[in-house]
Amino acid sequence: MTYDRESYWSGVANRIGGRATDCALAGDADAFYRYKRRKMLSTFLSALPVDGRVVLELGPGPGGNLEWLLDHRRPTRAIGVDISDAMLGLARERLKDRAELHKTDGVSLPLPDRSIDTSFTVTVLQHNVVDSQVHRLASELARVCRGPIVLIEDTGHGQPKADADTAWISRPITEYEAMMRDVGYRLTKSARLGLRVSRAGYNRLIRCFRPLEEGALQPAARRIAIAMWVGIAAPLDSLVPDPIDLTQMVFERR
Ligand SMILES: C[S@@+](CC[C@H](N)C(=O)[O-])C[C@H]1O[C@@H](n2cnc3c(N)ncnc32)[C@H](O)[C@@H]1O
Repeated sequence: MTYDRESYWSGVANRIGGRATDCALAGDADAFYRYKRRKMLSTFLSALPVDGRVVLELGPGPGGNLEWLLDHRRPTRAIGVDISDAMLGLARERLKDRAELHKTDGVSLPLPDRSIDTSFTVTVLQHNVVDSQVHRLASELARVCRGPIVLIEDTGHGQPKADADTAWISRPITEYEAMMRDVGYRLTKSARLGLRVSRAGYNRLIRCFRPLEEGALQPAARRIAIAMWVGIAAPLDSLVPDPIDLTQMVFERR
């Protein structure tokens, strides 16, 4: 089936909405993704310059990142712009009137020039597999933002170039760097989350179970096996460098 961003993410939102437990994002139905998220929040999101600033998340999904920032930091305004109405519906339920949420066509941002202090993404550009669309998004982020742009995306070995069915692409840091240079931003810092041990075992473990659609509720046996593995592997992750996976890239205006 051809990957269409809006209908794909609305499908994920509907599956998340159908789960009984409170869900902050698509992948948090198992212990590995919950661990990854905790690590992302404590190392990447906690370092965002947010206090006293207007903050934009491009692609907030169900709103868990904005909620965390509103609970733990002091932005003056929090804004989310997403391509999926169903995701925006979940975010509205979660955030009520604490954040301003807008719909986008996937390439433009419905915001005035230089109206944002800090912009960020978490696993959004990697789900925009058409390069020309990502370039337009980068130029829109540069138009609306007067301060740093922080991209938290999967990088690394590079998923082979996407075809029409692929829902994600892993671009190397150099590709994001070149794209942001074109819109007047330079890379000032990059850091990887570091999940090498836990991810390796997780990827092997899930092959023992039936494949699931993104956002779907996981069977108990699978959840228990993953939780046990993460308990063993998580302490080892910090001991081994990880050349791929989630990367925080901080860009400042040139
Ligand atoms: C993997 S989810 C991540 C959600 C959230 N950032 C998080 O970390 O929980 C990707 C989100 O990006 C949104 N998205 C994908 N492409 C987009 C685009 N071009 N513009 C705005 N939102 C987009 C999807 O609708 C979805 O909500």
